Formats: sequence, C-alpha cells, structure tokens
Amino acid sequence: MPVLIRSTHSKSLPLLRLRRAAEILLRSIGRPDAELSILLVDDAEMTRLNKLWLKRPYPTNVISFGQQGDDFPQPENNLLGDVVISIDTARCESANAGMNLEQRLEALLVHGVVHLLGEDHELGPVEAERMTRKEQALLDALYKEKTMADLCINVDHVATVRQARGATEPDPVTAAGIVEIAGADGIVVHLREDRRHIQDRDVKLLRQTIKTRLTLEMAATDEMIGIASDIKPDIVTLVPEGREELTTEGGLDVVNLEKHLDKAVTRLHDAGIPVSLFVDPEQNQIEAAKQTGADCIEIHTGLYADAPSSNIEDKEFEQVVTMARAAMALGLRVHAGHGLNYRNTARLAAVSEIQEFSIGHAIVARAVFVGMERAVREMLSLVQKGYLE
Ligand code: PXP
Repeated sequence: MPVLIRSTHSKSLPLLRLRRAAEILLRSIGRPDAELSILLVDDAEMTRLNKLWLKRPYPTNVISFGQQGDDFPQPENNLLGDVVISIDTARCESANAGMNLEQRLEALLVHGVVHLLGEDHELGPVEAERMTRKEQALLDALYKEKTMADLCINVDHVATVRQARGATEPDPVTAAGIVEIAGADGIVVHLREDRRHIQDRDVKLLRQTIKTRLTLEMAATDEMIGIASDIKPDIVTLVPEGREELTTEGGLDVVNLEKHLDKAVTRLHDAGIPVSLFVDPEQNQIEAAKQTGADCIEIHTGLYADAPSSNIEDKEFEQVVTMARAAMALGLRVHAGHGLNYRNTARLAAVSEIQEFSIGHAIVARAVFVGMERAVREMLSLVQKGYLE
C-alpha cells in the first residue's frame, strides 16, 4: 500500500478521506506507486518532534521528513517520505479560517508533500512564491478530482414492493426525493425488459423531478436505446439481462459483444448520453470496454461482496483495486456496485480510483426499519465522511 496513515491522536479522524487525498496527490505528481507515510499527532507530540529534529520548542502544523536525495538512492527507493500533521493545530487553524477540518488537513498534506518534493518557502521570497504556486496546482488537482466518491442510490426495490401488490405505493419517485433530501448524489433505476419493478412512467417522472443525476441501467436493446434517447438520463449503464435472474448476475461479456456494444455506445453518444459498461473486474473486459468508446465502467463488486471467507474477500478486494487502477490508467471513469452493504462498503470507499458507488438493495432493506432518510445518511457517512476510529 503506497499510503500509510497512522494516528496517535485520540479523536476519530477522517482517515479515509486523507488516504484518498494522498493517493490523488501521488497520481498528480506522477508518482502513483511512491510510498508516503502520514502521521497524525497531537500538539504535545508535535512539540516533542520539533524539539528533537528542528530545535523548535513549540508545536507547528506540519513537518515533512523527506526520503529523497543522495542519502536515499533511487530507483530502488520509492519512498517519498513522512508527513507529520498536528491535529490540534490543524483544528485551531480550520476554525480561524472558517473551513472544515478535512479541508485544512488536505491543505497541510499538500504543503507537506510539496516540501517532500524539495521545495522550501523558508529559503527566500522567490522560493516561497514557487512553493505557493505548486501547492495551489496540487490543491486544484485534488478538488478537480473531488476527494470522496459520489453515492448514487438505486430505488428499484421500492418499486418491487409496489409491484408485489400491483398498487401505486410505495412510489420510487417519492423515494428518490427523500434520497436526494438525505444528500445522495444521484438516483439509479434499472428499466428491465419485463418491467418487473421500475415502470416507464417512473423513469419519465424521475427525469422531470429529480435535482441530482439520473442513471438509467438497461440492456443494450433497440427498445431501451430508443427510450433512453427520448428520456435523456444523465448517464446510461449498460448491463446484461437474463429473464430468469433475480438480479444482474454478472458483468457484460464485452470481449465477445464488443461490436454490438460499440454500436449501442455510438447510438447513445449520438443522443448526447454518456455511457458506462457494467463489467467484471477483469483486465480483458476493461480493455474491451475502452475499445467500445464507453466513458466509464462500473466494476461488478459481487464476488467481493459475497466472498464466503475473509481470505477470499481480501483477494477479491485486491482484484477490484487493481482493475480500478487499470481502468483509470486507460482514461475511463470508474464506478462500482452490486452487493455493497453497511459492512463491506467503507473498505472500498478508501480506494481513490473509484469515483462513484451504486448501491440499492442494502439501503432499501435498511430503510424498511429505520426510514429512507436515515438509511441513506448512514451509507453517506461510510462513503463520504470517511471518519474511522
Ligand atoms: N449496479 C448495477 C449495474 C446493478 O445492476 C445493481 C443491481 O440493480 C446495482 C449496482 C446495485 O446492486 P445492489 O442492489 O446489490 O446494491
């Protein structure tokens, strides 16, 4: 793992968010595999480190210990160095500047990393100006990529309950409104060929009413491409569809269906709709997805989510991470979904290449007991707040 984060501070801290920020920074400086250690301490420990290494008997906000240069020969050494941040000082500074702690920590991390790259504002005004410019460029890169992933919520199973009675309630359109009020970034629906849950009317009304983003999951058929071209969702995710399946059982076989999918992607692009392909975490499928001209892939996380043991879960997790990196390196945006729940999502939320999660069943299931708004907020705090004890 290139980014190692340790904390000797007693409070719960946004470690997940900091990890994602650090990985984005390493990519931005062209060193995605460099090793960076981040240590979060209190003011007492920062004072001790300052006295020991820098002869300063007081705490500061950040200190960097570089591992570059002649004493640390390259290329065997891929260590960038250590950044130590005082949480107490960062908290005071964030309060004084009217920003939240997460933003202040990210700014201090950037400052520390730029020091590790050899810049030093204390050498003089020219150096200070150059360092500020580099920091600003990295902060811009960080906020352009958006540190935390988006959470889009699939409301199909609200419609499943409605269809069980052939009634009008519960209405997935109402559910989508509550999901948005709770803070989700988007709504996902799967219009299946057999219309077992979501109906055409739902998709039309969602398009008119939701304020975030609408993702339409669908098979790459003429009928569905026609509907999408009329309704114009913000993005289409193409999925395989089997009549007998309970839910989407696997990713698209893009390798064998490349020509067919290529045409579907082109038709959707002609209608002005970006396209994502739902694929298993396999290199050849991802490369084929790129060939179709798709903008994005959604990695099928079912094997990770349903792993029967922690060993297999670890292996499947690594596979998802490796394939997310491979897809991003090909210039594809990376989404992930299927089978994610309140236990297994936080680990994936730390993977900075994954820019969006699509989660449905676990949230609708929890909403039955705690209400939709609370179920969404609880998942949002796992995916986006990134606070770990
Ligand atoms: N992504 C895709 C492409 C899907 O087909 C589904 C299931 O509809 C999901 C995500 C959400 O999966 P789950 O309901 O297991 O969270």
